[in-house]
This record gives sequence, C-alpha cells and structure tokens, in this order.
Amino acid sequence: MNRQEILYSGKAKSIYQTEDENLLIMEFRDDTSAFDGEKIEKLDRKGMVNNRFNAFIMSVLEDNGINSHFEKLLSPTESLVKHLDMIPVECVVRNIATGSLCKRYGVEDGLELSPPTFEFFLKDDARHDPLINDYHIQSFGWASLSEIEVMKEVTFRVNSVLSRLFSQNGMILVDFKLEYGRFGNKLLLGDEFTPDGCRLWDSDTRRKLDKDRFRKGLGGVVEAYEEVALRLGVDLEAMPE
Ligand code: TMP
Repeated sequence: MNRQEILYSGKAKSIYQTEDENLLIMEFRDDTSAFDGEKIEKLDRKGMVNNRFNAFIMSVLEDNGINSHFEKLLSPTESLVKHLDMIPVECVVRNIATGSLCKRYGVEDGLELSPPTFEFFLKDDARHDPLINDYHIQSFGWASLSEIEVMKEVTFRVNSVLSRLFSQNGMILVDFKLEYGRFGNKLLLGDEFTPDGCRLWDSDTRRKLDKDRFRKGLGGVVEAYEEVALRLGVDLEAMPE
C-alpha cells in the first residue's frame, strides 16, 4: 500500500490517501504539541514509539471485542487504517481527578472518582476544545443519540480493559481521550491510544509517564513512553511483515 495525496495534517499525525478509498495511511510524526498547539517541539523517536504503542493497544482492544480503524503496521512510523468519517468530539473518561477537571470544578487533584466520570469535548483548537453535552452533539447534528450511547459505552469498555492492563504492569490509567468515526453503518474507534492522549502514573510513586511530562517541562518524555512500552511488552524493534 503506497502513500498518495496528503488528506490531513494534524499536530502530531499526518493522514494520506491510498489507492483504496476505504483505507488511509496514518503517519505518527515526532512533533509534540500541548495547550492547543501553543507549545510544539520535535521529540526524537516519538513517532516510532507511538505508532508501535498504538498498534499494540488497538490489538489488545480487538482481542477484547472492541473494533477500531486499525488494520496493520506498515513501517516504523506508519499504520494502515480504515477511512472513517470522523465525529468531531473527544470522549474522555477519568478515573482520578487531575488536569482540566480540577481547574474547572476545584476538586482535589488526585481524588479517586467513583464512578469514573465521562466528558465530551468539541474537537476545535481555536475554541480551546470546549466541554459540550449530549444535547449539543445532537442539536448541532454532530452525532445521533444512538451514536452518543455507543461512544460512551465503548469508551467505558476501553477503560475497563486498559485499566486492568496498565494495573497489571504497575501503572494507573488516570484518564484518556478517544475519538470515533463512521465506517459504513458502523461506528468504530479511530485516531490513537498512546501516552500523548492519556495520563499514566506509576502505581507506587505516582511518577508521570505520559504527555504531562511535556506539558509541565519535566523532561524525559520519550524515555517515559518507552518505559511504558517496555513494561507492557510492546516490541519497539519489530518490523512489519
Ligand atoms: P484534560 O485534563 O486536559 O481535559 O485532559 C483529559 C485527558 O484527555 C488527558 O489524558 C489528555 C487527553 N486530551 C487529549 O489527548 N487531547 C486533548 O485535546 C484534550 C483536551 C485532552
């Protein structure tokens, strides 16, 4: 499968068309962004680590009955994915309060959330990804009620599967963001699951192992991502078949 025209270039990934209109090539770049693109840096190896990390997680999810756009690894930094019609909302589940939740509501940082909480955000950097509710999504025609229900249900299932996986390997899945898109009459998980879009803490020390290291200027960003990959047994050397 060869790259054709570029379809879209985001802050950390580029999407290319292929000779098959139903398939796209997703390239993970080394670019790293925070605060809606205000802070951007290139971090050596990050594209490769995230591409392989994402492939590993999407395979785990597939094994647990959660379907995504992921097809296969194509190269160290590229994966083949299904061409989805993306819904412009971000689905966030939080197991522990931190980040924007604490800023917005004044709840204590580190508070365990019981039950885990769910939020929708509009994917719109220029508007700083505002918090939105189910009615906004329906009234503005971004998704139907049944699609909203699927996004919530699947995101909570992903939380169960991955919270267990990280916990078995000495980490806490604090929170994460997912995106969905339509493929024919199905709604599939799209985009990525990598340490760029979640918060992971070491279970014993609560050391940050995710993009908060970049947001907060803590250093050792890609080293932390590689440590997470190593703990999960992700092969960072494997070449695609
Ligand atoms: P927040 O605390 O900044 O709202 O972030 C919640 C989680 O969602 C965190 O794991 C980071 C992730 N996230 C993204 O990946 N992209 C985004 O644009 C936003 C707002 C959050």
